Amino acid sequence: MMLDVRDLSVVFTDRGAPFAAVDGFSLQMDRGEVVGIVGESGSGKSMTAHALMGLIRRSQVSVAGRALFEGIDLLSLSREELRYYQGRELSIIFQEPMTSLNPTMRIGRQVEESLRIHEKGLSPAQRRARALDAMALAGLSDPEGLYRQYPHQLSGGMRQRVMIAAALVLRPRLLIADEPTTALDVTIQAQILDTLKDINRKEGVAILFISHDLGVVKALCGRVVVMKQGRIVESGPVDQVFYHPREEYTKLLLSSRPARKKLKGGQADG
Ligand SMILES: Nc1ncnc2c1ncn2[C@@H]1O[C@H](COP(=O)(O)OP(=O)(O)OP(=O)(O)O)[C@@H](O)[C@H]1O
Ligand SMILES: [Mg+2]
Repeated sequence: MMLDVRDLSVVFTDRGAPFAAVDGFSLQMDRGEVVGIVGESGSGKSMTAHALMGLIRRSQVSVAGRALFEGIDLLSLSREELRYYQGRELSIIFQEPMTSLNPTMRIGRQVEESLRIHEKGLSPAQRRARALDAMALAGLSDPEGLYRQYPHQLSGGMRQRVMIAAALVLRPRLLIADEPTTALDVTIQAQILDTLKDINRKEGVAILFISHDLGVVKALCGRVVVMKQGRIVESGPVDQVFYHPREEYTKLLLSSRPARKKLKGGQADG
């Protein structure tokens, strides 16, 4: 087993009463598997992803449980040790646009960034070759041309592909993608899902895919966990959860899918 998350919880203690943003989350993933986490806004999806990667290290937030990656508990590692794993073994595409691309830095440089940190022995030409490979893998046509461009010269979908390339450049075994297509229109969204599928198939990268849209999760994932208020309320093969949801909450998630409604109305954009 590649990933074994056991009874993960994230509790905020900065407000009056302690608040559990994640409460007893468990998940097992094999190498090469594609699993979805779905839930309404505020249900704890991002907190779960950040916590299991060992990224939540603040006083006033207590993280409990275990997050074993290839047998190593990411929650018990020092910052130094964790840095070894981040990017190289597991990589995350963050939901917040703030942590996305740097507007003043050329695309190529941004894709190469983690190579500069983790593979210091590479020559500039080797780094460039690796960046171009990752960009092609992320479905960017003409990586050479894009290499010297700046983020504002790219469409939203291309920028998201650059993020995917940057996350893959160290060839991690697990990619965590937090709402990577939510801001994009449905056509571009579908294309990026296809690319993620290809990456999984060709490279064997496991993907933990986070979305509030069960339909999007269905297009990509074999298995899904449904979260509500920090807890898993339902999980199973994605077809089973999609066609035979057990929980009222899951049925509600299925019936409130704005992107698809827009498409039916003939207005995919806007
Ligand atoms: N600093 C904080 N202090 C207290 N509670 C917080 C803090 N940051 C986040 N939370 C709470 O943690 C809960 C889970 O948030 P999280 O970002 O994981 O939700 P999410 O499922 O990713 O939602 P979305 O779909 O909107 O991205 C929310 O109820 C949020 O209000
Ligand atoms: Mg989130």
